[in-house]
Amino acid sequence: MTKVAILGFGTVGSGVAEVLSKNSQGIARRAGGEIQVKYILDVRDFPDSPFKDCFVKDFSIIENDPEVEVVVETIGGAKVALEFTTRALKAGKSVVSSNKELVATHGYELLQLAKANGVSYLFEASVGGGIPILHPLINCLAANEVEQITGILNGTTNYILTRMIKAGLTFDQALKEAQDNGYAEKDPTADVDGHDACRKICILSALAYGQHVYPQQVPTQGIRGVTLADVAYADSCGYKIKLLGRCLREPEGKVCAFVAPHLVSCENPLAGVEDVFNAITVTGNAVGDVMFYGRGAGKLPTASAVVADVIEIARDPKADRGNQWGPGSEDLVVSDDHLTSRWYVRANASMDQARLACGEILPLARSGAPAREAAFLTQPMTRPQLMDRLEGMEICSLFRVL
Ligand code: HSE
Repeated sequence: MTKVAILGFGTVGSGVAEVLSKNSQGIARRAGGEIQVKYILDVRDFPDSPFKDCFVKDFSIIENDPEVEVVVETIGGAKVALEFTTRALKAGKSVVSSNKELVATHGYELLQLAKANGVSYLFEASVGGGIPILHPLINCLAANEVEQITGILNGTTNYILTRMIKAGLTFDQALKEAQDNGYAEKDPTADVDGHDACRKICILSALAYGQHVYPQQVPTQGIRGVTLADVAYADSCGYKIKLLGRCLREPEGKVCAFVAPHLVSCENPLAGVEDVFNAITVTGNAVGDVMFYGRGAGKLPTASAVVADVIEIARDPKADRGNQWGPGSEDLVVSDDHLTSRWYVRANASMDQARLACGEILPLARSGAPAREAAFLTQPMTRPQLMDRLEGMEICSLFRVL
């Protein structure tokens, strides 16, 4: 029997309790013994919950109970969650987390702490919600040098972009709909400005390349600047606008990582990933492209990944999980300026001006476009080359083409 404490009874925490209870028999079979929730820590009261007898408000009860082997951290944020995770690991308890902010900012030190205490720190649910991605990356793809990872890593922004593309909603209308449906938070900053996707690409980079990548090292652009005009122009040439988190292997052990809206060709499977779904393509130098797809957020999908980590620990509490990475360094992450790609440009200019500046371009059209609006795709070039050519032009939108 493995006894578990859940920290935070919000969407994910309550989903973890529900999955552990609903699927208890199969889970016991796969874990080699029953997994039981002993405590749930939350500042709120839940008198009607089927787990009402488990609630505590004082973390030290969990910390000091030798029966608790696994602590599930579903609090979120990097303050209280950091304190409780640190204390749990020091108390010799393994910690399972869905908290991408904490892993992206303090993953290296927490993994070190887990190792020093002979326990595990697992966080499959922190990237891609219910999609198995971290375990496949470090286990099934272990034979590869990872050339690059490209992912739709945020469900809220993918939902907003899908509604703009399919229903013609403006960004503000689509955001409100996402909030009304419970996908987007009241304060949607972390999602729409790309911070959530940034944290996830940091975690993927660290696992793929073995060194901590901090969110502040990763250039991040969200989707607030994407307009219906851009969506229409992209559609006219067979592309969809998607917010992508990307990381690439660079010479001398460096990493290029960034988050930005891209035009994705409809022939690329990522273009067909809609609504709150996430998808991640990993390119290995032996395997080629491998794609992972599924629900990137939500109560039970995220709980599915959390509970799988708990089962892994219950099965073999002392195993080396192979998920350690090294410390970060200031010069680890290089900018994406050297990456060559085609570019989508929308500018207040004439098409003649665009041709004069950029040479061979693919002009784009949409109904209702103002007279002095030029939208076009360029030939492949780097950002500095493009910026040189566009000097003096009033740019409205500028996205890479994948
Ligand atoms: N806010 C996140 C998203 C939740 O929309 O993808 C899952 O990390």
